[in-house]
Amino acid sequence: KIPIITTVKELRSLVKSFNHESLGFVPTMGYLHEGHLSLVNESIKDNKHTIISIFVNPSQFSPNEDLDTYPRDINHDIEIIKKLAIGKVDAIFKPSVEEMYPSGFTFDINNQKGSFVEVLGVSKPLEGLKRPTFFKGVATVVTKLFNIVMPTNAYFGQKDIQQTIVIKNLVEDLFLNINIKIVPTIRNENGLALSSRNKYLSDDILNEVTCLYKSMKLSNDSYLNGEFNVEKLTEIVSNYITKINNKFKIDYISFNDPKDLSYLTNIDPKIGCILSMAVYVPNSNNEI
Ligand code: PAJ
Repeated sequence: KIPIITTVKELRSLVKSFNHESLGFVPTMGYLHEGHLSLVNESIKDNKHTIISIFVNPSQFSPNEDLDTYPRDINHDIEIIKKLAIGKVDAIFKPSVEEMYPSGFTFDINNQKGSFVEVLGVSKPLEGLKRPTFFKGVATVVTKLFNIVMPTNAYFGQKDIQQTIVIKNLVEDLFLNINIKIVPTIRNENGLALSSRNKYLSDDILNEVTCLYKSMKLSNDSYLNGEFNVEKLTEIVSNYITKINNKFKIDYISFNDPKDLSYLTNIDPKIGCILSMAVYVPNSNNEI
């Protein structure tokens, strides 16, 4: 039976009992799938102890986002961990919002209290453009969790590549004594990255969105054949997506520097780039 710990105090006393043996930490928002488990398995391989946190962090949502409907199912999560993680998870840390935000949490910016952590620069482009407070919420909760768990190693998925860059900057800038380990993206048999939010998509759309991965592959093929011009590479991606489904509405397709996320117009093959995109797809009710 995996212990579920809900308070900071209890978690700290468990960690103390590890006597400074190596501790791996996997922060999540729950509704676990094999993507999360691949992080857990890495942690079990590298460390004597492993802790997973499950916390749907309100401060990384904005009021118009899906905080209330974000999938939550602790029994599902326990079953998944039991079934797939090789070896041992010492505990699940599943605090309440009150426990994590002792000064209280509110979306009302004028009434907000407490302390927040902001990573400037790399939080601003890409995802940060549409979600200006998202990475502030992520950086804040991850700092809190790091200070509670004080792990040796912490595991993050490459799927959320901007998040990994924000966290690496956070750890470097604030001199946090934690190694950040990045784990490759786990995809389904059609190449779609696993994600808790895939639950929002109908079976038909789940099938059709696999064109996103294929479009990136096509662009990568062309890059490997010597095409470094971003406008050309973007066209390959967008043409393929709209050919498959003209109801998909592209928000952005972007090629960015892997270190500082600056926008590229030409790729230096010695440095490479990050290709990312956001695309609106119809959900089960056929709304975009
Ligand atoms: P969540 O979306 O639950 O993801 C938890 C971790 O699992 C993240 O590091 C994410 O990148 C990784 N992950 C998700 N899907 C993956 C996949 N298909 N392959 C590999 N890794 C995958 O990301 C968050 O939660 C939150 O922002 C959090 C860091 C917990 C802060 O609240």
